[in-house]
Amino acid sequence: MLNEIKQKAIKEINQVNNLKELDNLYRKYLGKKGEVTNILRSLRDLSEKERKEKGKSANKVKQELENLFKEKKLRFTDNSSYQQKDWIDVTAPGILPPQGYPHPISLVQRQIEESFQSMGFSVIDGLEIETEHYNFDALNIPKNHPARDQYDTFWLKNLDLLLRTHTSPMQARYMEKNNPPLRIIVPGRCFRHEATDASHDVQFYQVEGLMVGKNISMANFKGIIETFLKDFFGPELKMRLRPGYFPFTEPSFEVDIQRENGKWLEIMGAGMVHPNVFKSAGYLSDKWQGFAFGVGIDRLAMLKYKIDDIRLFYSNDLRFLKQF
Ligand code: PHE
Repeated sequence: MLNEIKQKAIKEINQVNNLKELDNLYRKYLGKKGEVTNILRSLRDLSEKERKEKGKSANKVKQELENLFKEKKLRFTDNSSYQQKDWIDVTAPGILPPQGYPHPISLVQRQIEESFQSMGFSVIDGLEIETEHYNFDALNIPKNHPARDQYDTFWLKNLDLLLRTHTSPMQARYMEKNNPPLRIIVPGRCFRHEATDASHDVQFYQVEGLMVGKNISMANFKGIIETFLKDFFGPELKMRLRPGYFPFTEPSFEVDIQRENGKWLEIMGAGMVHPNVFKSAGYLSDKWQGFAFGVGIDRLAMLKYKIDDIRLFYSNDLRFLKQF
């Protein structure tokens, strides 16, 4: 009997929609003439032993229902829980979800791509794992060539494979599969087994450039690189070419740019494509000329954003990355 009343009360409390209905319900069960109150009152007529037993469970039911009523009442009167449940304050300040940022290297890479695309270059992807053939031999760096020492190489175990030390292997791969004339750039990550310091890391990014056609000369190289650098750093930029050496270009040069303090900084290696490189790609070297260059993306990013340590790019420190 008591239990039935309790179940009925719980069901009805759950169905109540407003404070007034709830008050009526309270009266029905726990008011002066309420169903539970009546039962409690009827205990008076029982023997002491029975009264003790039944009184205990009746009081427990009374307490449980009191609690339910209290809880339900809060739903109608407590403003905060009411707010969460039934409406949204559209004037409250919003909560911004966490947002990602492009890495500074990616930002600079995109700018380089846009600049060269506007001069008719296509953007090509290369491979981070390369063969000895494309990283060295096809670039006129045969075994035992002293220039191999410049490229401290990560060799992969038991294979003729390595982590590319520069993006130049894509010169050979691309020319093997495509006929001139051509203009491409190849951005990508490179690896060198070197001690790290503020300007060297075991990984870094380069953009390879290659333009091959009829009567392409150093003057074309200088025109294109100067246009790119002014595009990237602004029209005031000053650059110079210095003689250099690379086995895969002849003649070879280094490109320096002038910094705010007047000092020159090397940012790329370049040169006219060596006849042996054309030959190994199957081009007729007396018919075609071209230039190639390799520019360090990290270097450009460091100059542009005034970053003094290359290792910051690879430390994944959010305090650094969030600034871009
Ligand atoms: N691959 C050379 C390096 O990383 C740079 C370079 C590219 C030089 C193309 C000449 C031509 O050192």
